[in-house]
Amino acid sequence: MIKILKKIIKPFIPPIFFSDVRRELINYFLHNKKITHLIKYEKNFYKRHAFINKAISKYNDCKYLEIGVADNNVFNSIPLKIQDKFGVDPSEGGNYRMTSNEFFQKHENIKFDVIFIDGLHHYEQCQEDCINAMSALNKNGIILFHDFLPRSYFEENVPRKQINWTGNVWKVAVELMNSKNVDFKICNIDMGVGILKLKNGFEYKMMPELKDMNYTNFLEFYKNFPLINSEDALDFISQD
Ligand SMILES: C[S@@+](CC[C@H](N)C(=O)[O-])C[C@H]1O[C@@H](n2cnc3c(N)ncnc32)[C@H](O)[C@@H]1O
Repeated sequence: MIKILKKIIKPFIPPIFFSDVRRELINYFLHNKKITHLIKYEKNFYKRHAFINKAISKYNDCKYLEIGVADNNVFNSIPLKIQDKFGVDPSEGGNYRMTSNEFFQKHENIKFDVIFIDGLHHYEQCQEDCINAMSALNKNGIILFHDFLPRSYFEENVPRKQINWTGNVWKVAVELMNSKNVDFKICNIDMGVGILKLKNGFEYKMMPELKDMNYTNFLEFYKNFPLINSEDALDFISQD
């Protein structure tokens, strides 16, 4: 009942009353220097949707899984029948109202050709999502990730401090760079889109030493990230 009332009232409340908006304004006015973007994305004409849809177009009868769906922005752009697209989110959007962990537990026999990981932006959860997704991927499938390239301390910080938020999932990118028998790139657009292909004998490399690292550490690792531009990312996805 309270949930329904909240939905009805929300459009009439000035944005300043939402804690995210308040935080962003406080960050802007009080910590102006710190929200300068320290890395820049490629100027381009693509968003994550383009790469996900490019991946989907590779497969006949593609099965697609999206972890973290929110307002269906990406999910509604997926040109597949609903029986072949699985959107998992405990709060809103998609067609499976549960956490990613619950989904993988309940549906361990379904395999997917394309998986987009964009759920809880905490390192540990994203790591779990990645490992589960690797097991749920069909041979020659593709896993995509959102938010591997935070531009500032505030964008990266856990707990969340502002609306635009990547969290610290970049640590999974570092682990993938160090994993065995994987082909991994990051497209330098739209908060950083990770693209992962698995080879025979792949092994995920856990690096517990990353746990307490912060944005300053990210900037060091970033120097060696496997960054590619949008057009190379489209080619990378097409290649077998
Ligand atoms: C950034 S939004 C997803 C945006 C969407 N993929 C897009 O590209 O437009 C993150 C979503 O993850 C969801 N989420 C949080 N914890 C989750 C979990 N444990 N499993 C799955 N989704 C989760 C949140 O409810 C939120 O809707």
